[in-house]
Amino acid sequence: MRYRSQAVAYWYFAVAMLLFGLQLVFGLLSAAKYLGPDPLLYILPFDVTKMIHTNLLVVWVLTGFMGATYWMVPDESRTELYSVKLAYVQLALWVVMGVTAVIGYLFRFGTGNKLLEQPLPHKLVIVVVMLMFLWNVLMTIRKGGRFTATEGVLLLGLAGAAVLYLPSLLDFDNYTVSIFYRWWTIHLWVEGVWEMIQGGFLAYLLIRLSGADREVMEKWLYVIVGLVFIAGILGTAHHYYWVGVPHYWLPIGGLFSALEPLALVGMAMYAYAALRRSGLAHPNTLALHWTLGSAVFTLFGAGLLGLAHTWPGVNQWTHGTLVTAMHGHAAFYGAYAMIVMAMISYALPAFAPGRPEQGTALGYWAFWLQLVGMFGMTLSFATAGIAQVYLERIMGLGYLDAQLKIQVHFLMLMATAGLFTVGAGLFIWDFFRHAPRLQVLAEDEPATTAAAAAARVGAQRRPA
Ligand code: HEM
Ligand code: HEM
Ligand SMILES: [Fe+2]
Repeated sequence: MRYRSQAVAYWYFAVAMLLFGLQLVFGLLSAAKYLGPDPLLYILPFDVTKMIHTNLLVVWVLTGFMGATYWMVPDESRTELYSVKLAYVQLALWVVMGVTAVIGYLFRFGTGNKLLEQPLPHKLVIVVVMLMFLWNVLMTIRKGGRFTATEGVLLLGLAGAAVLYLPSLLDFDNYTVSIFYRWWTIHLWVEGVWEMIQGGFLAYLLIRLSGADREVMEKWLYVIVGLVFIAGILGTAHHYYWVGVPHYWLPIGGLFSALEPLALVGMAMYAYAALRRSGLAHPNTLALHWTLGSAVFTLFGAGLLGLAHTWPGVNQWTHGTLVTAMHGHAAFYGAYAMIVMAMISYALPAFAPGRPEQGTALGYWAFWLQLVGMFGMTLSFATAGIAQVYLERIMGLGYLDAQLKIQVHFLMLMATAGLFTVGAGLFIWDFFRHAPRLQVLAEDEPATTAAAAAARVGAQRRPA
């Protein structure tokens, strides 16, 4: 840790890890219900467990983004955070909001708007938290007087995420209108501004982990992020096919969303090329696994599996089935869960000086078990979804009859989710097993010598 205030990130990461664990409990519960019988039917029905599962996902990923930003901005702007106190007040408010929202869901307090179920008071707290966060980050950059392009892209993404949350505050009686604006938040988050956040972290990590030149990395970052954004805006229309809007949205949605994977190919190539050309400049190869893993898994989950059902001719059959769950899991995990775990893995050795900089066997088990588990879960949802589409929408079987016939795929889902849960459990355990010793290390202290030396070698190799 070069700046004392970066310690704030540890507490954000700790909260994120706890919520990640809880998210999986509700995922397993939701999956178990597909296999029945369900003793919790009247206490915790599927709609509640799924809502808590997805809400916890969004909250822990956002907590991770905030922590990672508080870690990265002092590093980039070379200064302490503007206000550590504000950052902790923000975290406390955020946790109270999250905990009370989940308790509320258990008692059916929610708006019923998928992924945006938070009641209005909670939504208002979220807006206040975002404002506190952005203020703190902006003031830090102003104080430091150094503003990098990587930071700029990250900040644009974070500010965009805050602004695009605002449509979710509106309440419409008309279902079509309501769904129309819901996608301004959900789609433009995951296929627009959150991609900028991922891009910002990716560039930060690649610049530090590889010997890649900052100027080159930042130039490509602009191109990729620009591409995602241009295709993503009109790509929103791939959610407008069957919701009661005019027909012209069909070709618009099909065409522009089909262009989105291009940018994701660019992102994976960008990460790979940075490493191949510039080599390793940092001992933390575990963080590198997560970084490259995120770029590649995004291409698979969002790019390939998004493309698989984005064309109206396909989506008319697959819409709202387990095919969507297949893509939702792989995309969210690759792009956002993995980039948060990359930032955590990069920062972790600094939180407890006893940790080896290059990662531990436990850390690698956590990585590979999660990867294999999530790949298996994706295949389970895919096989279940394809069979569901065929039985229900082509053969005309009733919804529940089709569900009975595809139960076998849920056995595979449980098995692979089990592997995933062990991997995630190891990651969480690895995070908490060293008590934090949050102190600033001098450049030449033993624990950082290896990292500092490697970084210097990297710096020397850079062509001016
Ligand atoms: C990291 C990026 C992405 C993430 C995290 C993501 C995640 C999701 C999630 C969670 C849903 C379900 C939303 C809901 O029903 O409320 C969804 C739906 C969808 N996604 Fe993505 N996605 C990403 C990128 C893409 C891309 C690039 C494409 C197209 C090339 C795509 C195509 C689709 C389509 C067509 C649907 C609607 C499925 C349906 O009709 O049921 N996604 N995505
Ligand atoms: C133990 C591991 C997990 C299990 C067993 C699990 C299971 C499930 C189940 C059964 C659903 C409901 C599907 C439906 O609508 O029928 C679901 C939804 C969802 N899960 Fe998970 N999940 C797990 C982990 C994760 C992780 C790690 C992520 C992301 C990083 C994730 C993201 C999602 C999303 C975005 C949805 C909503 C999909 C949609 O709208 O169609 N899940 N999960
Ligand atoms: Fe979308």
